[in-house]
Amino acid sequence: MRVFVTGASGWIGSATVDELLAAGHEVTGLARSDASAAALEAKGVRVRRGDLDDLVSIRAGAQEAEAVIHLANKHDWSNPAATAAAERAAVETITETLTGTDRPFLLASGVAGLTQGRPSTEADPSPFHGPDAPRGGSENLALEFADRGVAPVSLRFAPTVHGAGDHGFIAAIVAVAREKGVSGFPGDGSNRWAAVHVSDAARMVVTGLAKAPAGSRLHAVAEEGVPTREIAEAIGRSFGLPVASIDPEDVQGHFGWIATFFAMDLAASSAVTRELLGWTPVGPTLIEDIDAGGYAPGASLAR
Ligand SMILES: NC(=O)c1ccc[n+]([C@@H]2O[C@H](COP(=O)([O-])OP(=O)(O)OC[C@H]3O[C@@H](n4cnc5c(N)ncnc54)[C@H](OP(=O)(O)O)[C@@H]3O)[C@@H](O)[C@H]2O)c1
Repeated sequence: MRVFVTGASGWIGSATVDELLAAGHEVTGLARSDASAAALEAKGVRVRRGDLDDLVSIRAGAQEAEAVIHLANKHDWSNPAATAAAERAAVETITETLTGTDRPFLLASGVAGLTQGRPSTEADPSPFHGPDAPRGGSENLALEFADRGVAPVSLRFAPTVHGAGDHGFIAAIVAVAREKGVSGFPGDGSNRWAAVHVSDAARMVVTGLAKAPAGSRLHAVAEEGVPTREIAEAIGRSFGLPVASIDPEDVQGHFGWIATFFAMDLAASSAVTRELLGWTPVGPTLIEDIDAGGYAPGASLAR
C-alpha cells in the first residue's frame, strides 16, 4: 500500500516507518528539515517536504496515498493552543481530502482525560470536542468521518512510549530529577501510567492499518498502569539520586509543564485492541528500560 506518514522522522514515526517498510508498504514521509528528509531517504522512504502549517503539502500527500498515518505534532508545551490548532487544521485537511475514498486514516491520540478512577478502555469516547479542546478535538473530528467515506482509526498511545533514546515524557521527568537532584513522585505515588515499548506501539499501528475497522479506537498499551512511585524509584536507581514524595501543592512548581501529566492517573486497558488485532506486546517494560540505561545521556536509539 502507498502510505503517507506525517511525523515519519519522530520517535514513534521512525519505528512505524521501519515496520511499514518491513511489511512491504511504500512510504512517503512528511519532512520539515533537511536532516529529517535525509534520515527518511536513507531508509528508502520517499520524502514530501512541508511542515504542519503547510496544508497544501499535507493535502497533496493525502491525495497521492492509499492510506494516511498522522503522527506529527508540534509538542510546543509553552503554547498548547497553537499546537492544538495545528493538529486540528492538519486533521481537517486530511479528512476532507480523503472523504469518499474509503481510505484508512490512522491518527495519533492519547489516553489522558478519558476516565477517572479506573483504567480507560477502547469503549470510552474522547470527551474532547472542538478546536479549543486538547489536541484540537482531533480524535472525535476524525472519527466523525467514518460515515463520510473515510476509514478513521485513532491510535491512543500510552503516556509513555518508551525505549532507549526516547525524548518524550519520561525523558522530561528524568531531566527534572537530574536538575533538582531528587527523583520525585507526586503525593503518595499511587497514580499509575500505562506504558508500551516503542517497537510494540509501531507494530500495533501497522497491524491496525491492516485490520482495524473504520471508527476503531486502538490502545497502544502493554502495561496497564505503572505507579509513579515505581517510575521515580527506577529513575533514582539509574541516576544515583534520592527518591522523594513531592507534596501535591508543590507538584506544579517542582515538575513544571510535565506536572499536569505526572500527577494524573493514566492507567489504560488494551484488552479490546489485543483481541481485535491479535496483537501481543513483547518488548521490555518501562522499568526494565529505565534500569537498562535507556534514559542515560547518549542512550542509543537501538530498538
Ligand atoms: N511518545 C509518546 O509517549 C506519546 C504518547 C501519547 C501520544 N503521543 C502522540 O503520538 C504522536 C507521535 O509522537 P512522538 O513521540 O513520535 O513525537 P516526536 O518524537 O516529538 O515526533 C514528532 C514528529 O512530528 C514532526 N513535527 C514536529 N513539528 C512539526 C511541524 N511543525 N511540522 C511538521 N512536522 C513536525 C517531527 O519532525 P522532526 O523530526 O523534523 O522534528 C517528528 O517527525 C504525537 O501526536 C504525540 O503527541 C506520543
